[in-house]
Amino acid sequence: MKRTAYLADLTSAHLDQTVTVQGWVARRRDLGKLIFIDLRDRSGTLQIQIEPESPAFAEADRMRGESVAEFTGMLRLRPENQRKAGSGAYELIADRATLLSLAVTPPFELSKGREVAEDIRLKYRYLDLRRPEMFEKLKMRSQVSAAITAFLTAEGFLNVETPLLTRSTPEGARDFLVPSRQTPGEFYALPQSPQLFKQLLMIAGVDRYFQLARCFRDEDLRADRQPDFTQLDIEMSFVEQDDILDVSERLLRHLFKTVLNEELPDPFPRLTYQQAMNTYGSDKPDLRFGLPLVEVTELFRGGAFTAFASAPSVKVLATSELTRKQIDELERVAKQNGAGGLAWLRREGEGFSGGISKFVGDMATELITRTGVKEGGTLLLAAGEWKKAVTALGAVRNALRDLLSLATEGFQVAWITDFPQLNYDEDSGTWTYMHHPFTAPHPNDLALFGTERQHEIRAQAYDLVLNGFEIGGGSVRIHDPAVQQQMFGAIGFTPEAASEQFGFFLDALSFGTPPHGGIAWGFDRLMMVMSGAASIREVIAFPKNNRGSDLMAQAPSAASGAQLAELGLQVEVGSE
Ligand code: AMO
Repeated sequence: MKRTAYLADLTSAHLDQTVTVQGWVARRRDLGKLIFIDLRDRSGTLQIQIEPESPAFAEADRMRGESVAEFTGMLRLRPENQRKAGSGAYELIADRATLLSLAVTPPFELSKGREVAEDIRLKYRYLDLRRPEMFEKLKMRSQVSAAITAFLTAEGFLNVETPLLTRSTPEGARDFLVPSRQTPGEFYALPQSPQLFKQLLMIAGVDRYFQLARCFRDEDLRADRQPDFTQLDIEMSFVEQDDILDVSERLLRHLFKTVLNEELPDPFPRLTYQQAMNTYGSDKPDLRFGLPLVEVTELFRGGAFTAFASAPSVKVLATSELTRKQIDELERVAKQNGAGGLAWLRREGEGFSGGISKFVGDMATELITRTGVKEGGTLLLAAGEWKKAVTALGAVRNALRDLLSLATEGFQVAWITDFPQLNYDEDSGTWTYMHHPFTAPHPNDLALFGTERQHEIRAQAYDLVLNGFEIGGGSVRIHDPAVQQQMFGAIGFTPEAASEQFGFFLDALSFGTPPHGGIAWGFDRLMMVMSGAASIREVIAFPKNNRGSDLMAQAPSAASGAQLAELGLQVEVGSE
């Protein structure tokens, strides 16, 4: 029988009429001789009442929690003192019941929700997704994806799909490889992003491209990372950086307004990489609270505190009164993030006590003025090479946010611009790209390639940051093959190596390439922040856990001997 409506769509128009509803038994109570069933579908719940003399009674009596059932009967208003919002105002007095599918006892109580261990929820994900909170997230994700498609289509963007079985793309993570049966010993790589293909689409004249693209990266997993994830990928021709930022801003404002009824600023604030690192110790600063890092390098230079006296950079954070235990915990965070230690001071009157106070001497007044630390408040200091000192103190800043609940409600968005073009990797002693090797350097900095000031070259690259998460990144691309070669040279790619890895792409660049650029948003991360979820696993229907396993489908799994033989592969690891 066809259902009359989703449960939440029953209205006063259905009152005192015969309706048919279908769903899952969320709860069953037997009161005296009556059976009450809370029926649930994706829209909400409805109370079903089955009286002992009803022809539906025997069938309803067989129903267990999470069974699938259909009821037909009269829709009535619930007694006034029991009425709730929406479909909670009504109840169905069933005179027909059908048990469509009997459920065995579920492995966890759905109403317990997040109290249930995540591994159990992931193993039985289809049950977890029955919880209204999870369904709402899937629904919002679908709404946002539809709004993106509508917005960009209206702006003339073409939705183009790019291959999943392809070659390596240089986004800095490890590739997932897929062995080829047709050419044993050879492998496809799953794309870390559609980067090369979207640039090729610009060379092909598509002019404006977008795709909700699946990407694959074999990297250490965290709350905001999955091995396969989705990007909103965008590329545009005949544009400059501001054109790309403009489309992104308008789209994000539109999504927040239509889906959450939230206003984002117009324009978004912009911070250069230098400003963000100097002030917040992070290239993805959480701007929902202040607590800026303050520069004090020269105050300590040559002073009594030898650990700081010759440090290239000394930075300080002023916060409220902290216990020794809290300071110890923050020092652990600083050390985990590259600092040798975390020095501290407590303000007492016009001077300081505790920590390194005996070294402060007559710089106390200046420290108080610069940091604005209040009576009893704490100063936390880190020193070292600039990037290490700011990064460690930036991590302490975020830890203070969590410790003292400093973040305000709502959303704080910003662009981080002018990233360095190149990064010196101390471990390997080599230069690498910061974003990817196709990012265009700032035209004014071209002359610095190959000089000792190479690290100062700014990229035309930008990140989109929301509440302390990097939710997008992109750049203007190199469209001049000569500059592309220069870039490869700077990161130690010989022309032969470049041609071996990206020959098809370098060939394409020489056939008439428009100036172009783009961005990719982490769609899962955006949904995580928009829906207030604690991890991206909450906004992905079937995610992997932190060890990269799909606990439900039990992937990854071993391949059979026959499959391996067909692929010409032998497994050494884990074999007897
Ligand atoms: P990038 O590597 O910065 O740039 O990636 C863009 C955005 O994708 C998201 N992201 C991830 N989300 C979940 N799990 C992951 N493992 C993961 N890795 C990245 C982040 C990130 O900001 N091709 C370029 C874009 C461009 O230049 O146009 C690229 O992929 O939110």
